[in-house]
Amino acid sequence: MVINKQMNALSLILTLHTPYKVLLLFPVITIAMTGCQANGTNDSDSMFFGRYIQYIRGNIPNQYADLKNALPASPVNISDGKRLYQMQCLACHGEAGDGDGLAGKQLVPSPANLAFTRRLPLATDAFFFWTISEGGEPFGSAMPAFGDQLTEKQIWQITLYINTGFNSDQGT
Ligand code: HEC
Repeated sequence: MVINKQMNALSLILTLHTPYKVLLLFPVITIAMTGCQANGTNDSDSMFFGRYIQYIRGNIPNQYADLKNALPASPVNISDGKRLYQMQCLACHGEAGDGDGLAGKQLVPSPANLAFTRRLPLATDAFFFWTISEGGEPFGSAMPAFGDQLTEKQIWQITLYINTGFNSDQGT
């Protein structure tokens, strides 16, 4: 429950203009983290904000900053994206994208809830491409870097699939 309220506060803040965002984000994150501890939630359930902070500060590598997905959200691209997601991502992020994959259970930080992430204003094409390409090494997380394993097209197909809300039958 507490987490849900914090998530809502976070989503709201992320819609604001950058200076306000940066100003408001830190207290909310601190409260969220304190909330997790006070609840006795263990570390693997706590949220990880490092990636959001880096993105909002504009500190993602330049080569990703302006990227836009040029692939159409066609049935073929989405079903290819789904297949790739199931092969490469599902083990950690779970079938419905909510971060509960078996291989992710013990990870700290835990795999992100991508079904939630995709609704955040910061979940731009650039955010996804950067994250999927470079992974979690800069943050000490287990999120693998797929830049050498997947083609650009494949990364965009996975992004399209995530943005259907993990429902390839319905589209966005
Ligand atoms: C070994 C487990 C693992 C696998 C496999 C994995 N991830 Fe992750 N992923 C993580 C963890 C842990 C995080 C949270 C820490 C971070 O952001 O680096 C994460 C974070 C993310 C984020 C950031 C979301 C947010 O809200 O911050 C995205 C996007 C993402 N993963 C996409 C993918 C995609 C797409 C694939 C498959 C191509 C994938 N991941 C495969 C573990 C994994």
